[in-house]
Amino acid sequence: MADMATFSVLTVSDSCKKGTRTDTSGPAIIEKMKNSGYTCVDYRITEDGVTPVSSSIEEMCYQGVNLLITTGGTGFSPRDFTPEATELVCDRKVPGIPEMLRYRSSEIVKAAWLSRGTAGIKGHTLVVNLPGSVKAVTECVEFLLPILPHALEVLRGSVGRCGG
Ligand code: MTE
Repeated sequence: MADMATFSVLTVSDSCKKGTRTDTSGPAIIEKMKNSGYTCVDYRITEDGVTPVSSSIEEMCYQGVNLLITTGGTGFSPRDFTPEATELVCDRKVPGIPEMLRYRSSEIVKAAWLSRGTAGIKGHTLVVNLPGSVKAVTECVEFLLPILPHALEVLRGSVGRCGG
């Protein structure tokens, strides 16, 4: 990419928002993405639930970032609503990304099939949900990195058509 793409990170966790737990997954994503040449625009922590998560996603997308990665709230716990919040605000679904993440992750841990994470496009921003643990985000960012350059180039309009 001529100029490097930007990303933001949204950690979804009641305990991290309250300050009773330190967020380690958000910083792990930031470090891995920065090491791959991406520029971090924003990092926020929000509590679980459709309204706080969807409002945060909307605000962060309006900043014009190329990629927004969320971590947490994708499981079966009663307050896990990150996928619902993401689908509420996105204009278009991107089913292939969560399909790929679950498939690749399931080769490491069978519980990967329990992550309900989704991905979508809001304006020119790709939004991707990752699970909550440092281990999961480290693995998932690794799976994501090879497909990001082309995905973000197309979203940014710097390539008009795919040559194969
Ligand atoms: N994906 C990867 N790559 N590695 C993991 O360790 N953990 C799984 C899964 N996805 C995991 C993973 C587990 S244990 C759960 S319960 C779900 O993600 C949901 O996680 P969340 O509730 O933290 O979002």
